Amino acid sequence: MSPIQVLAVASEVFPLIKTGGLADVTGALPLALAAEGVQTVTLIPGYPSVLAALPAAEVVHRLPDLFGGPARLLRGTASGLDLVAVEAPHLYQRPGNPYVGPDGRDWYDNAVRFAGLARAAVAVAVANGALADFTPNIVHAHDWQAGLAPALLHYGGGRRPGTVMTVHNLAFQGLFPGDLLGLLGLPPNAWAIDGVEFHGSISYLKAGLALADRITTVSPTYASEIRTAEGGMGFDGLLRARSHVLHGILNGIDDQVWDPASDTLIAAPFDVRRIARRAANKQDVQDRFGLTRAPETLLLGVVSRLTWQKGLDLLLDELGPILDLGVQLAVLGTGDAAMEARFIAAAATHPGQVGCVIGYDEGLAHRMQAGIDALLVPSRFEPCGLTQLCALRYGALPVVARVGGLADTVIDANEAALSAGIATGIQFSSGMLLPAIERSAALWRDPEMWNRMRRNAMRADVSWRRPAGHYARLYRDLIAERGA
Ligand code: ADP
Ligand code: GLC
Repeated sequence: MSPIQVLAVASEVFPLIKTGGLADVTGALPLALAAEGVQTVTLIPGYPSVLAALPAAEVVHRLPDLFGGPARLLRGTASGLDLVAVEAPHLYQRPGNPYVGPDGRDWYDNAVRFAGLARAAVAVAVANGALADFTPNIVHAHDWQAGLAPALLHYGGGRRPGTVMTVHNLAFQGLFPGDLLGLLGLPPNAWAIDGVEFHGSISYLKAGLALADRITTVSPTYASEIRTAEGGMGFDGLLRARSHVLHGILNGIDDQVWDPASDTLIAAPFDVRRIARRAANKQDVQDRFGLTRAPETLLLGVVSRLTWQKGLDLLLDELGPILDLGVQLAVLGTGDAAMEARFIAAAATHPGQVGCVIGYDEGLAHRMQAGIDALLVPSRFEPCGLTQLCALRYGALPVVARVGGLADTVIDANEAALSAGIATGIQFSSGMLLPAIERSAALWRDPEMWNRMRRNAMRADVSWRRPAGHYARLYRDLIAERGA
């Protein structure tokens, strides 16, 4: 079998730079792919935190003019990943969030910042490219920030690697003015319905979806949803037309980073045979969130970006009747200012019963998964979702909306699943959050049943092993098809 060399292209890689689950995926998948005989090099913008993590990186290539300034490709390793950073200070040397400036608005030059990433990808991907020992036979682009890479390779002509576009979230479309076409290096015929044009703009996401050889998304259910008018966000027609190359492959999580038995971030490590030790972690969460120390009270948790997608306003809307069930709620999140304010107010109104920490805190996320009894994920849509996978592994039962990857990863405690002894959480359909929490509370009152579900949850395979096998097969098929 020919070796598989993959150039992954992404704007986020855990632990170097992260705003969401995308980073977790690009940070963990290459390690699991290695076991499948796939070598991955990951290309990433040279944000300050990325360059700081690569002090010994080597200059492997120079691009004299990358959209208004010189750039160098730096190769190095960090966290077990083989990385190439695009060092281009005029594009990426900006602190903080990678997409928005201090005024909270998208950087004015995001079009060229991410066209720069795509152009660097082409420099590595073409024959006799930038890396002497690495000629990828696959370029794997993640989300809109990398979407131009398959398009530039498609229009570039000549021999090129196979291309895969993974969509982690269709809501982020990378829309820019159409008159940039020439500047971006796209030919006039790219301005077409089967090219990069999307309702009068250029969409970097569409560029990838239309022109990559394969499309993947991060769960089978989301792969179906995005082909419908309700879930397609304007791309459903294109995705239906390309159904034959669209695959839904579930995400996993890094089960070394997320391992309750060896986690040094939590108060008391535990495993499925020593579940009783969770009690100390529950107390730790109750203390941290100013909640009454009450081992017998059902402790619900939220670990999330606070955005419309995540549906946490629906939780706030029903908070009164939910709290009347006698549960506690701990919320860790950041995002929408109005939602943050509502959670802060709820904590002030219900001291001892509701606590919230506004912010992004990786360590506290671990402590919460180890200590809460159930994790609420009432998303309006969810391509995959990783928090519910972490929750399963740590024995916090996920209570999730039946959408996207949430539907694919949690086994609902319906009668059949309960009697078969396979349930791992609770699913609910739109608008049914309160009844779902009532069901959870009823199950909680049956400790034997709860513990059984908890053990099932902890035994569920949420690792990258199986998904990595799917990706490897997809790469192999594509290479065979292209005769590479
Ligand atoms: P999304 O990528 O849409 O935000 P995911 O569930 O796929 O949702 O991934 C979110 C990741 O970010 C998970 O690893 C989760 O634990 C983490 N996370 C989200 N919000 C916070 C927070 N406030 N503090 C710490 N980790 C968070
Ligand atoms: C996106 C999605 C989330 C998914 C993550 C990683 O951020 O919102 O559902 O888990 O990407 O694929």
